[in-house]
Amino acid sequence: MNATRSSIGSALVVSALLLSHLLLGPSVTTASPAGYAPHGTVTIDGITVPDIGPMPTQVPTPPTNLGYLQKVELGKQLYFDTRLSKNNSVSCAFCHNPGTGFADARQVSIGAFGTAGGRQAPTVYNTGFIPLQFWDGRAGSLEEQAIGPIHNPVEMAEKHDTVVPKIAKIAAYQKQFQLIFGGGASLQHIAEAIAAFERTIVSQNSAFDKHVMGEAGAMNEAAVRGLDLFKGKARCILCHNGPNFTDNKFHNLGVPQVGPLKEDLGRFLVSRAAKDKGAFKTPTLRSIIETAPYMHDGAFKTLEEVVDFFDQGGGSNPNLSPLMKPLGLTPEEKTDLVEFLKALTGAPLKVTVPKLPK
Ligand code: HEC
Ligand code: HEC
Repeated sequence: MNATRSSIGSALVVSALLLSHLLLGPSVTTASPAGYAPHGTVTIDGITVPDIGPMPTQVPTPPTNLGYLQKVELGKQLYFDTRLSKNNSVSCAFCHNPGTGFADARQVSIGAFGTAGGRQAPTVYNTGFIPLQFWDGRAGSLEEQAIGPIHNPVEMAEKHDTVVPKIAKIAAYQKQFQLIFGGGASLQHIAEAIAAFERTIVSQNSAFDKHVMGEAGAMNEAAVRGLDLFKGKARCILCHNGPNFTDNKFHNLGVPQVGPLKEDLGRFLVSRAAKDKGAFKTPTLRSIIETAPYMHDGAFKTLEEVVDFFDQGGGSNPNLSPLMKPLGLTPEEKTDLVEFLKALTGAPLKVTVPKLPK
C-alpha cells in the first residue's frame, strides 16, 4: 500500500497542451486533426468498421457541466482524497493510480475494509470519450459513474448521506463549492468536479498518432508491420476501432474467469439479453502497456499473453463472438503486434498530487 501511495506521490502537472485546451473552455466538438480522415473505413470479411486514427484534440463535455477550469482543480483534490471512502482509506487514485496508467496493478481491486471486488479497474485515460462506463456499460456519463464507487461496498463503502456532510464540513472544500457552483457540496457537485478532472486524463500524441499524421520514423518498423496486422490478418480493428480504439460495444471473448467471482455475466446484468451473457465492453487500447493486468478480471499479465489468446481465437464459450477466429500468427507477427500496441502510449501526462484541504 505504501508503494502505491509513493508512486502516486512521485507522479506529477497536467500537460500544457491539455491546459491550453481547457482554457478554450468546454466544447462539444469532435474536430479531428488535419490529415486524418474521420470517415475512413476498413473492411474485413465483408464487415466495414471505422478506421483507427489520432485522438480528437478536444474532449466532448456535457452541456450541463460547465465552468471547467475551476472544477478540474477541485475534482483533482477529490480524486486523491481518501475521505470520500468510509474509513478514509481509499481514494479514486488508489485504484486508478497515475503511476500505473490510471488503472490498478492488482488483478482485481481491493476496496475499503480490504474487500476484493470481482473486476479489474479499467483506466481513466480517455474515459471522457466513451459513452458507456464500466465493463458492462451500466453508467452513461462520467458524472453518473463517479457516484458509483463512493457507495459501492467493495470500493469506497461510504453512504451518500454521510459523505456529503463529511466533505461539506471541510471549510476549504465548502469555500470552493460555493465559489464554483454557487452552492454547497452535494453529490452532484462532487461528481461534476471529479468528471471534469477525469476529462483532462487523455492519452494522446503517441508514436501512432504522429505516424498517421505523417511524421516519418515516428513508429519503428516492427510497429508499422504491427499496424498492418492490426487492421488486417489479426482482425483487431473489427472491435478496437475509431480514434479511441473501441467500438463501444460488448463482446464475449471467452476470457477465462479468474479471481473471486465464479461467473461474471457482464453486459447481461444490464441488458438481460441472452446474447450479452459474458460479454464485456471493448476497452480502449491507448497507453495499454501501462495498465496491466488485462481483461475484465485481470486474467492476463502481459500483452504477449493477450496476443496469444487472440491468436487461438479466444477462449471456449457457448456465447463466443462470431468475430473471434484463430489467426495463425507467426512468432514475428506476434512481436510486431505487441510493438504496435506499445506505440499507442500517449505523451507523458504529469499529474501532481494536490494539497488536500484540512
Ligand atoms: C476499490 C477500487 C476502486 C476505487 C476506490 C474506485 N474505482 Fe473506479 N473502478 C474500479 C473497478 C473495479 C471498476 C470496474 C467496475 C465494473 O466494471 O463493474 C472501475 C470503473 C471505473 C470507471 C469506468 C471506466 C471504464 O472504462 O468503463 C471510471 C471512470 C472510474 N472507475 C472512476 C473512478 C472514480 C472517479 C473513483 C473515485 C470517486 C473511483 N473510480 C474509485 C475500482 C475502483
Ligand atoms: C470481437 C471483438 C474483439 C476483437 C476482434 C479483438 N478484441 Fe481486444 N478486446 C475486446 C473485448 C470485448 C475486450 C475485453 C474482454 C474481457 O475483458 O472479457 C478486449 C480486451 C483487449 C485487451 C485488454 C485491454 C485491457 O484494458 O484489459 C487487449 C490488449 C486487446 N483486447 C487487444 C486486442 C488485439 C491485439 C486484438 C487483435 C489480435 C484484439 N484485441 C481483437 C474485443 C475484441
